[in-house]
Amino acid sequence: MARKKIVAGNWKMNMTPSQAVALCNELKDLVKSDEVDVVYCVPAVDIVPVVEAVKGSNVAVGAENMYFEEKGAYTGEISAAMLVDAGVKYVIIGHSERRDYFKEDDVLLNKKVKKAFEAGLTPILCCGETLEQREMGITLDWIRMQIKSDLVDVTAEQVASMVIAYEPIWAIGTGKTATTEQAQEVCKAIRECVAEVYDAATAEAVRIQYGGSVNAGNAAELFAQPDIDGGLVGGASLKADFGKIVNYK
Ligand code: 13P
Repeated sequence: MARKKIVAGNWKMNMTPSQAVALCNELKDLVKSDEVDVVYCVPAVDIVPVVEAVKGSNVAVGAENMYFEEKGAYTGEISAAMLVDAGVKYVIIGHSERRDYFKEDDVLLNKKVKKAFEAGLTPILCCGETLEQREMGITLDWIRMQIKSDLVDVTAEQVASMVIAYEPIWAIGTGKTATTEQAQEVCKAIRECVAEVYDAATAEAVRIQYGGSVNAGNAAELFAQPDIDGGLVGGASLKADFGKIVNYK
């Protein structure tokens, strides 16, 4: 069965709650689609108003982060159960900004992925190389290491239901998109890695997004690649262009 495309916006640290609701209203008619799953991954404080604002539409809500512990003395953190209760369906785990600025490592991210599944959330697990790593020629080795470590003890059934986002760090927020060939090469390698660790059926089912300067002009070509099942979109998810990315065909 063909994989359904999934286009997710990652709002990052943008949009106050009132701005968030205004954006949802602006995008409402533009992001309608039967062919593509649409997700807004929003700041924690925006989750409740955004869930309300998209009620009855085709848009699902995601979080940008969560903690792996059940509950308790973890000041400032948000649990998977809190997200589920608030109406969240997806959660971004291991974005390069969290790995870099907040020192999240693969051991921690593996715990988060497992907790997300346990709670019934769908993880959008991010991976990606730096420019130095690409220039050194170790991109595929690095990505495989990230995927394998982040998915330790995750079942084939779980992996089949999740989303993996390939986001080359040098392409994020830089306006410098990976070429279609570069993006397809790595997304294919991720699928092959899943086939090797799990099996062909799991690899066939898992949805793999490309992220990094996706915009209304390049989405169609990127999403047409055989191993690219949609995008994780930063800057362009905060404007009307996001509707064009969703309806890229
Ligand atoms: P940009 O689309 O702004 O490059 O951000 C990509 C990203 O990091 C999405 O998670």
